[in-house]
Amino acid sequence: MAKSLPDRPLRPATLLVRGGQMRSNHDETSEALYLTSGFVYESAGQAEETFLGTVQHYQYSRFGNPTTTMLEDRLAALEGAEACRLTATGMAAVHASMLSHLKAGDRVVASRALFGSCHWICSTLLPRYGISCDFVDCGDLDQWKAALSRPAQLVLLETPSNPMLELVDMAAVCDLAHAAGAIVVVDNVFATPLLQKPMQFGADVVVYSCTKHMDGQGRVLGGAVLGRKKWVDEVLQPFIRNTGPSISPFNAWVILKGLETLHLRLPAMCRSAAAIADFLAERSEIARVLYPFRVDHPQHALAKAQMAAGGSLVTFDVKGGKEAAFKFLDALKLVDVSNNLGDAKSLVTHPATTTHMRVGAEERAKLGITDGTIRFSVGLEDVADLIADVSEALDAIAPAPVPTRRVPVVEVEPVPEAVAEPAPKPKKAAKPKPAPKPEPAAEASLFELTAPLPEAPKRKGG
Ligand SMILES: Cc1ncc(COP(=O)(O)O)c(C=O)c1O
Repeated sequence: MAKSLPDRPLRPATLLVRGGQMRSNHDETSEALYLTSGFVYESAGQAEETFLGTVQHYQYSRFGNPTTTMLEDRLAALEGAEACRLTATGMAAVHASMLSHLKAGDRVVASRALFGSCHWICSTLLPRYGISCDFVDCGDLDQWKAALSRPAQLVLLETPSNPMLELVDMAAVCDLAHAAGAIVVVDNVFATPLLQKPMQFGADVVVYSCTKHMDGQGRVLGGAVLGRKKWVDEVLQPFIRNTGPSISPFNAWVILKGLETLHLRLPAMCRSAAAIADFLAERSEIARVLYPFRVDHPQHALAKAQMAAGGSLVTFDVKGGKEAAFKFLDALKLVDVSNNLGDAKSLVTHPATTTHMRVGAEERAKLGITDGTIRFSVGLEDVADLIADVSEALDAIAPAPVPTRRVPVVEVEPVPEAVAEPAPKPKKAAKPKPAPKPEPAAEASLFELTAPLPEAPKRKGG
């Protein structure tokens, strides 16, 4: 028989391991994977009562499944939300949270700094259904005030944003949105539920791509929408049930198991990201580094007020535009070029030619994404190896050493022999200096390599 959890608030690490578990009558240790599309009933009467809602029984995995319920309950407990529904991807979560709530004639106010596909939903999809959308610069409260001085039904924002790590003052924007009649949907992918709790600042709905840090090992796609029970049951659930963006129970199970180590993985990734940001800031090839917990981040104070750590992403600009950025990416031997993030493997992205290609050059310029911008999703490798890889790749883009300037040939009057200086006496060959004594080796740390690395395997396609 399954034990119920202690009746007192549990800490995040405990919830990530224990939250939501429903043991079957087999008393399994690990959460069971119910890989089934449908369920059976004891009788026709039970089927009828289930569809009437007078009996609680699983019906069909598009509507709900025990494995997905366990993940929904775990995420709701972690977020401090009343309810959660899962979707097949993060984009399905963003889409379902918006389209379930909106109707023709409604108005959305969105942060300009959104992931490319979220931007497309707001700028291209919603207007097709008669829903208008106004974008505002996410850090400019005056723009939020102006946009929300008129009625609106939904506000969508991302903080920190992808890829420029811009922040929105959630408490201020939630107050303005509520006064305008809008619910606030926060895409909390970059912060994760461990670093930031948007509902504590007034958000009504929080969405995630579980594909990222929650799985954390690059295996499956998934999405989550969290909110009040009434909204989830009456607004979101009928939309999911009838349009079918439901998650596979297998993916939900993988994410459940991924969550069990999130509290161990994320702090390590954040520590490495902070160290890499500091390293990059010292390099002459770098034009700018953005990391929310660095004091030079334009919204550093807000980051400290809203987040528990700076996150696992660092964004920076290399000098020399696209050519230098591509050269840097191609010179990395350990870190992979990818458009994904939040993985155990460190990944780098060139947003202008991938995730934010389709928002167009004008919009990219407004967002501050240049051709030299690189987004670095810091993984779980040893940070010394990551820094060595980045350092070598930066060396590859460093401008070639300036050739010694040729002294311009100046016509000089020939010096009369009589006043010419005598030729200097040839110097005696200098005695060779004794070779400097080697520096005493730094005390080896437990984690230092004691053997040279094996030769790196050839990169894909190489
Ligand atoms: C901020 C943000 N929101 C949403 C998504 C979409 O998630 P998914 O790829 O799981 O659909 C992404 C994906 O990169 C993202 O970065």
